[in-house]
Amino acid sequence: MLPNPLPREGRTYNKKMKDIKGRQEVNVTTPSLRGGQGVGVDVRFDFPILARKIYDKYPLVYLDNAATTQKPRQVVEAMTEEYYNVNANVHRGVHFLSQQATDLHEQARETVRRFLNARSTSEIVFTRGTTESINLVASCFGQAFMKEGDEVLITEMEHHSNIVSWQLLQQRQGIKIRVIPITDEGTVRLDSVEALINERTKIVSLTHVSNVLGTINPVKEIIRMAHAHGVPVLIDGAQSTPHFRVDVQDLDCDFYAFSGHKIYGPTGIGVLYGKEEWLNRIPPYMGGGEMIKTVTFEHTTFNDLPYKFEAGTPDYVASTGLARALDYVSSVGFDFIEAHEKDLTAYAMQRMMEIPGMKIFGPQDPALHDAVISFQVGNIHHLDMGTLLDRLGIAVRTGHHCAEPLMHRLGIEGTCRASFALYNTKEEVDALVAGIQRIQQMF
Ligand code: ALA
Repeated sequence: MLPNPLPREGRTYNKKMKDIKGRQEVNVTTPSLRGGQGVGVDVRFDFPILARKIYDKYPLVYLDNAATTQKPRQVVEAMTEEYYNVNANVHRGVHFLSQQATDLHEQARETVRRFLNARSTSEIVFTRGTTESINLVASCFGQAFMKEGDEVLITEMEHHSNIVSWQLLQQRQGIKIRVIPITDEGTVRLDSVEALINERTKIVSLTHVSNVLGTINPVKEIIRMAHAHGVPVLIDGAQSTPHFRVDVQDLDCDFYAFSGHKIYGPTGIGVLYGKEEWLNRIPPYMGGGEMIKTVTFEHTTFNDLPYKFEAGTPDYVASTGLARALDYVSSVGFDFIEAHEKDLTAYAMQRMMEIPGMKIFGPQDPALHDAVISFQVGNIHHLDMGTLLDRLGIAVRTGHHCAEPLMHRLGIEGTCRASFALYNTKEEVDALVAGIQRIQQMF
């Protein structure tokens, strides 16, 4: 029996904890799950790592969730359980364990389908993550539908995975990359989308939420504009899926990519959603077992969707972990997650702006800003800031965040970035603000 994916009930977690200086006691209250199935359950209890002591600081303040989220017990326990009690290769054995592992793997696909509201599990391809999903589309769609001089339209705020994968195609096939500019506030210039689409545009590929600016792009509007010209759209959902409900049918996107590890699931697994018509029309990405129907030395026929894109033994334990993570998110509920994270982001922006010399990149209106805050304080180098925050037990990311062209557009080398998840609290924001102020005094 796999563990129940729902949060445990009846636990509360009202604890006095030391502040970041280890002196003053602060009252830590954690999000309650009103509206979710786990009413009254403390989500932080599900994430044991959050109780870790880092250096001599307790507890850890983990604000690097855009890089990867922590994993709830439910995910880790389900994966351990599968390795201990079910493990066998999927789709290959007639024996009991193989059947059971296959069932779990295919149930996981159905969980993903439900999560994205895709029409069919044929449209859900397991990959290693968002990066592989984007590379798959660039490579296979590019091979089938793009020739020299054809164009892909991306934005100025893309992650390297949505730039370099197209550059590889550019090197192979001579395609062109056109870039939709952003405003100084960090929003996509919609007038340019219309202006840049032409008869050579074969695909538009953009992020739903910027991993640097926190901008939530109006992807539905952009998809509508692209479709009016018969152009399909790929959405990078790495930073959106953990934070709000995504409905691929409502968006009408042609492809949607996301990663397991950014949504409380395991590393090494991700998803490519693709409309069946497109997945049927593009060639496979890799050759090997599973993706074939018949093979001779002369010729191979390919398997049906989605297996045509899943060469080799899939990470079937990670797919179970991903499904449990999505179950977990669903049990907490996006109503709670969205409201909590929006509240937290608005509070953080307001508190951070009290700090002299603070610059927050991206939309200044918290309503347009997802749970990612990139910032710079006076002329304190982001690496110094990040390193010193770390010594205070506060984990943030520093650098270009795999978005160097965006850094060039902003005229900077990098930023410090705090990013939130469903388990973060206002007390942690206070700890961040106090930490920044303390570091500022040191300079
Ligand atoms: N893409 C991840 C980030 O933004 C790693 O940190």
